[in-house]
Amino acid sequence: MSLKVPDLGMLETMREEYAQHLANCQALIDTIPEQHRMQRRNAGFHADASVVAALGNSLGHDNIKLLEIGVWKAATLTYFLKKTGPASTAVGLDVFQFENQLLEAKFVIARQDLVARAELLVGPSHSIPKPIFDAGQSFDIVHIDGSHTFMDACRDILIYYHFLKPGGWMVIDDYKDDKHSPEVRTAVDTLVDRNIIRESNKGSLEGWTNYLIQKAS
Ligand SMILES: C[S@@+](CC[C@H](N)C(=O)[O-])C[C@H]1O[C@@H](n2cnc3c(N)ncnc32)[C@H](O)[C@@H]1O
Repeated sequence: MSLKVPDLGMLETMREEYAQHLANCQALIDTIPEQHRMQRRNAGFHADASVVAALGNSLGHDNIKLLEIGVWKAATLTYFLKKTGPASTAVGLDVFQFENQLLEAKFVIARQDLVARAELLVGPSHSIPKPIFDAGQSFDIVHIDGSHTFMDACRDILIYYHFLKPGGWMVIDDYKDDKHSPEVRTAVDTLVDRNIIRESNKGSLEGWTNYLIQKAS
């Protein structure tokens, strides 16, 4: 069965916009004094992550909730909040393993006036934080973009699928990045081929690297 997504035109437009957003985040981070900078300079990765905001927008209600596993410096998280309206909120979970990574993520959020709508949780994704348990099955969008190893990706997909609302979308990053993240595709295919993920509306779009799964309503 093929993947059905809301509005392909909107997806393309937002992918183009995301590139500018990433450049804006980079410019913000570049104002941080050298002693507080992270060694790795990139604000983010690739514009296909814009699908997180585009799918959120397509749901047609106001208080869209994102759960992002793997935040980096919050470029995608802040793009989502800016594009989905003033009532949307985001929870991001990351180990923030690099020196000054959390500082840079917080800075990117603060400088875009999004502190009140963004909650960052620090820890490894195999340890489910209490605020996520408390949120329960309430997230409209879950973005899986943490560790890209086979077992970690399988585990993150399986765990955090439970926190997705019926009708909501899981976006799995780098499904089609065979060069840098080949294990993500193996993880998704393993779960799909064995019917562990049974939803009918799932797949990847031509020209996009993520894998999308819509939870049945
Ligand atoms: C590719 S980056 C995320 C990019 C981000 N989603 C974006 O669009 O800009 C991957 C992130 O996953 C985090 N990470 C890696 N392993 C993790 C784990 N086991 N638990 C939580 N976060 C992890 C890393 O610290 C890193 O920030």
